[in-house]
Amino acid sequence: MTEQGRTWGGRFASGMDNLTEDYTAGADRDLWPFDIAGSIVHATMLGRQGIIPVDAANQIVAGLEDVRGAFERGEIAWKPELEDIHTHIEVALRERIGAAAGMLHTARSRNDQVALMNRMLVRGLCDDARSALGNLIGVLCDLAERHASDPMPGYTHLQRAQPVTLGHHLLAYGEMLWRDRERFADCRRRLNVLPLGSGALAASPYPLDREFVSGELGFDGVTRNSLDAVSDRDFIAEFLAACSLTQVHFSRLAEEIIVWSTAEFGFLRLPDGFATGSSMMPQKKNADVAELARGRTGRLLGELIGILTTLKGLPLSYNRDLQEDKLAVKNAADVVLPTVAIFAAMLPALEFNLPRMREAAGGGFSLATDVADYLVLKGMPFREAHGVVGGLVQEAEARNCELADLPIDVYRAASALFEEDVLAVSVDSALAARDIPGGPAPQRVLQASRELRALL
Ligand code: ARG
Repeated sequence: MTEQGRTWGGRFASGMDNLTEDYTAGADRDLWPFDIAGSIVHATMLGRQGIIPVDAANQIVAGLEDVRGAFERGEIAWKPELEDIHTHIEVALRERIGAAAGMLHTARSRNDQVALMNRMLVRGLCDDARSALGNLIGVLCDLAERHASDPMPGYTHLQRAQPVTLGHHLLAYGEMLWRDRERFADCRRRLNVLPLGSGALAASPYPLDREFVSGELGFDGVTRNSLDAVSDRDFIAEFLAACSLTQVHFSRLAEEIIVWSTAEFGFLRLPDGFATGSSMMPQKKNADVAELARGRTGRLLGELIGILTTLKGLPLSYNRDLQEDKLAVKNAADVVLPTVAIFAAMLPALEFNLPRMREAAGGGFSLATDVADYLVLKGMPFREAHGVVGGLVQEAEARNCELADLPIDVYRAASALFEEDVLAVSVDSALAARDIPGGPAPQRVLQASRELRALL
């Protein structure tokens, strides 16, 4: 194509090197629906405001609808010399309606155009993420309710600490994902202002009706500063941050699934549909879904650091560096959305070994704190009770038994406050006692699950 044929060819005497064409091509070819939608409203507004003739506006709108059909049918070929999707659309329009197409770009620059397209893209992805997370939180609530009274060991430092329930444990992830969902909502709320009208950087001298365009395109208002509007990619960083934290949460859950599925833990069996085998070792069943969710987290964090690094040194306003933003968004969405979907399918299919989890919940002196609490309820200061029970743990360790297996005389020797009923301290009594909001008592888990559902 001659430089005169480009949208900006006028001041160029010689052609662009092919290497440059390839090097500068945008990663935006899927984004035509947003650009066309924006262009249709922009042209309509130009006509309504008398900035271009209404006839021309109508021709442009009809032409753009035709172009949209052509994209839908896959008829528009990608031409590297056309640089990005904006130019492809304008050229396709010119092929259909001729000279009137030249009026579409009145009072508009690709800089505010791409800012618009990006905001629409990220807005839609925030909505997708929110609805997928809402669905998954529902799945976690279902599971939490089913396992509200199934004990498992709670851990700190990956050492058995105190009993909790599987329902309580799963709901911890429900809470994390609920916060993630809020972050996507928050990102959407802040990004949802119209940048169009900012021009290349200094807005435009035409009497634009930005409020009309904003309303038609589903924005809550218009940007207040044209320089900021064309250079702002905070919403991309916020979206990537929300994606990153979401994926980090999946990575933590993935790690637990991997660990729980080992023979050492034996807390769950991976369903065949979500596991893979080894090409060499016939006995293997691997948690590859969880491992890939964990592994892809690294890539995603890279995208967040990438955009922050890109923005870090950029002077106002638009710089071509910003073109890379769309790749980051796409890469992030391609990791997070399928991860949410596969976890929603995989979690209900996990086969928990509930007897083994219950047994583990009571092992490893996990009821020591409850025995100390027994003394506290009888008036002993907690610190003293902690020391007494520490001594009992030492004794049980020496005898190679659990606290509940120590004879009552040993308890009595440690403190006169002990009576027979100390031997009734159990996993179930420990759980039932934690009957406060936020606690793992079965009815509290059910209540927390109901409250979480209500937030959705
Ligand atoms: N393709 C560019 C991007 O995605 C938009 C147009 C850039 N503007 C320019 N003057 N080169 O960021």
